[in-house]
Amino acid sequence: HSADAHRTDLMTITRYVLNEQSKRPESRGDFTILLSHIVLGCKFVCSAVNKAGLAKLIGLAGEVNVQGEEQKKLDILSNEVFVKALTSSGRTCILVSEEDEEATFVDPSLRGKYCVVFDPLDGSSNIDCGVSIGTIFGIYMVKDKDEATLEDVLQPGKNMVAAGYCMYGSFCEFVLSTGYGVNGFTLDPSLGEFILTHPDIKIPKKGKIYSVNEGNAKNWDGPTAAYVEKCKFPKDGSSPKSLRYVGSMVADVHRTLLYGGIFLYPADKKSPNGKLRVLYEVFPMSFLMEQAGGQAFTGKERALDLVPTKIHERSPIFLGSYDDVEEIKALYAAGE
Ligand code: AHG
Ligand code: MN
Ligand code: MN
Ligand code: MN
Repeated sequence: HSADAHRTDLMTITRYVLNEQSKRPESRGDFTILLSHIVLGCKFVCSAVNKAGLAKLIGLAGEVNVQGEEQKKLDILSNEVFVKALTSSGRTCILVSEEDEEATFVDPSLRGKYCVVFDPLDGSSNIDCGVSIGTIFGIYMVKDKDEATLEDVLQPGKNMVAAGYCMYGSFCEFVLSTGYGVNGFTLDPSLGEFILTHPDIKIPKKGKIYSVNEGNAKNWDGPTAAYVEKCKFPKDGSSPKSLRYVGSMVADVHRTLLYGGIFLYPADKKSPNGKLRVLYEVFPMSFLMEQAGGQAFTGKERALDLVPTKIHERSPIFLGSYDDVEEIKALYAAGE
């Protein structure tokens, strides 16, 4: 293989997924078509984010969502783009979005076999200041598309068939797992294609970074407080960990996946279930972490074992390098 071969042998995300799916006898291209519509939505949001400042797309939309958050214009726009792209793909039957109070049941004439749960724009508080934001999604297979019910999306995360995110940062990066490892694709704006740049991502077994909003420290429970204290004042003579916190889950998780370390959004006295939403934030990121050799813990159990009862349910989450999460599991087991 000459160096040129790599430059001319473009491994686009579509080609990569087609290769992967061809190994599955049962696949008939439906997943590849679904993914191409998710990718289209991400390319649109990437383009809108890049010109948000110029196109008056920043600022509030004047609505409040079911989370009680003021919706940004980009929250609304990206939600509409994804709902329309996923519906028109003809491969979905239930959609759950952070920005829609109720689940969307796709018109029977357009139904397919996948249920998609997604956060169309993650890190909205960072839109107006140009800090990295993203889109997060998880995909379940419906039991019977003609009898689709909420039960099809109130499934533990371990039942997801795929999960991923797109980060709109200094470059646009699409990270995906279909259950056989994690791969990263970078958007080449000149081609409008996501090209494989991070094959088979594995998270370091242990990291030197912890990522948490220390502003909530007053309300943390014992084990979380003890763990963060350990990061800052290690007793075993090791050097303290660095703190990195962007405030966009996608950015904090992407850095953790590539560099190692631990990301925490713990429960606190004000929010006993933490802040992050189970279906479209906790599950997809936990799925990816496990596929990359890391792990994800809720403070009580393996995150992917959790069975949600409501579509906007929240859960505390501790995810990242295997050894780092082991430490916080030990503290919760000891009931510090
Ligand atoms: P969203 O913008 O989709 O509502 O998500 C915001 C989330 C997540 O991106 C981030 O990890 C967390 O909010 C940050 O919360 P704090 O500002 O409370 O730290
Ligand atoms: Mn929000
Ligand atoms: Mn979010
Ligand atoms: Mn969001």
